[in-house]
Amino acid sequence: MAQALEKNSVVAVIGSGAMGSGIAQVAAVAGHTVRLFDTRPEAVERAIAGIGKALARLVEKGRMGAAEADLARERVHAMRALDDAKDAALVVEAVVEDLDVKRALFADLEGIVGPDCILATNTSSISVTAIGARLRRPERLVGMHFFNPVPLMALVEVISGVATDKAIADTVYATASAWGKNPVHAKSTPGFIVNRVARPYYAEALRLLLERAADPATIDAVMRDCGGFRMGPFELMDLIGHDVNYSVTQSVFNAYYGDPRFAPSVVQQELVNAGFLGRKTGRGFYRYGDDVAPPLAQAEPAQQGAAPATLGGTDPVTHALKARLYVAEGPATIFLTDGRSATQRAADEGRPDTILFDLLLDPAKATRIALARADQCSDAAWNAAVGLFQQAGFTVTRLDDVPGMAVMRTVAMLANEALDAVNQGVCSAAAVDIAMQKGVNYPRGPLAWADAIGLRHVFTVLANLGATYGEDRYRVSPLLRRKLAANPEGARIHA
Ligand SMILES: NC(=O)c1ccc[n+]([C@@H]2O[C@H](COP(=O)([O-])OP(=O)(O)OC[C@H]3O[C@@H](n4cnc5c(N)ncnc54)[C@H](O)[C@@H]3O)[C@@H](O)[C@H]2O)c1
Repeated sequence: MAQALEKNSVVAVIGSGAMGSGIAQVAAVAGHTVRLFDTRPEAVERAIAGIGKALARLVEKGRMGAAEADLARERVHAMRALDDAKDAALVVEAVVEDLDVKRALFADLEGIVGPDCILATNTSSISVTAIGARLRRPERLVGMHFFNPVPLMALVEVISGVATDKAIADTVYATASAWGKNPVHAKSTPGFIVNRVARPYYAEALRLLLERAADPATIDAVMRDCGGFRMGPFELMDLIGHDVNYSVTQSVFNAYYGDPRFAPSVVQQELVNAGFLGRKTGRGFYRYGDDVAPPLAQAEPAQQGAAPATLGGTDPVTHALKARLYVAEGPATIFLTDGRSATQRAADEGRPDTILFDLLLDPAKATRIALARADQCSDAAWNAAVGLFQQAGFTVTRLDDVPGMAVMRTVAMLANEALDAVNQGVCSAAAVDIAMQKGVNYPRGPLAWADAIGLRHVFTVLANLGATYGEDRYRVSPLLRRKLAANPEGARIHA
């Protein structure tokens, strides 16, 4: 186990904007003397004042003692010139996202800092390998990718470029742990872990909207209430801003040479064209303002009395759901989606009254269930299925009959991307699950989730999506195929 940097060593933070000030605060609270620099001195002053206020709020809320906060505040010093970084054990760069600016900065720093100083970049999208390429000693440059707001978000992606010394990455990992963060190791690749693996959360939602599965408010409610995600994809994109989200998507897509997995959506492009950038412009997928009522998610009208319906399938999700339902043989047959549309499944299996339900994070506690109805399905069977779930306390939301529905399709694609990242040596399976929970607040790591659904079922969903669309986008990760070939019944990603 590598040692963290000495608690009282000097950490220099270059760039005092949103990220730099957060990093300075966290390092100071952890005990380091922090030197803060910016080409605009007023940015340093603002950052130091902001850190003081943030620490005072922590004291008010009882999360930190007043004396501890005072000491942390006193450890943060403004740097007048870059030369003041000469005694730093670690320099963290958080300046503008521009390769040339970052390269020039590190070239200057190399002439200032001592031989043992570690150089770290907080870049979110530039190759760490490229940033270090022109240094005399590129092995001491590493990515230290924090998430916004830094004091609240636990994840730090520790990124190794091609030349990065493993011992340096290990020291930064141990240091981030000592700062109370949850670090993960990753290789320098486009999007690192989070910004790569999260792409399907937006991309599948945009596809669902394009195919008119439901309106944004309905899909958001399904992702929250059925999937357990803190925010639905459309409200989240509105919050991030469509200019930012669209440009990250384009940058990852281009960086992977146009892999259709990462293809941007014309739906989002049109919002950008319109200037409907989300909350910050008062309009995105939703409208914002004091006099605007938030749109309601679709819900089926109440059915009188519960008619019997049959719940098919032996997967763990269906099994857990059965415990909550009054199930008897009835006109409707209800299955967990397997990536086919209900209409396709009804035709394949010669069962017209087929109804599908979407994945639930917790079948015992979910408040909503999403159903899709085969085009061949009778009203009597549909009404029986709706009544069955309503009687068990669910709000029933109807999605149009798109393959894979919303939560299942998204989670299967998140897991598939996570599996490819692991298969390509970007990170470990444990790291990707921590990253998605701590970096973007997912309710469960995508690989633990795939284990819970059953890898065979996840494979079937992806294979059916691939067969339906005929697109490379839905190709199954080789690692998933390998796991299932090695252990057809009991395959798992996590031991
Ligand atoms: N904002 C986020 O959500 C986020 C998350 C993770 C990583 N990042 C990355 O962190 C970095 C900083 O992002 P931010 O949101 O804090 O930006 P920001 O615009 O808030 O702050 C950047 C600061 O750097 C200063 N600066 C520019 N060039 C400089 C130089 N050569 N030397 C010293 N200071 C310089 C600017 O004056 C500004 O104060 C970027 O690389 C960004 O991609 C941002």
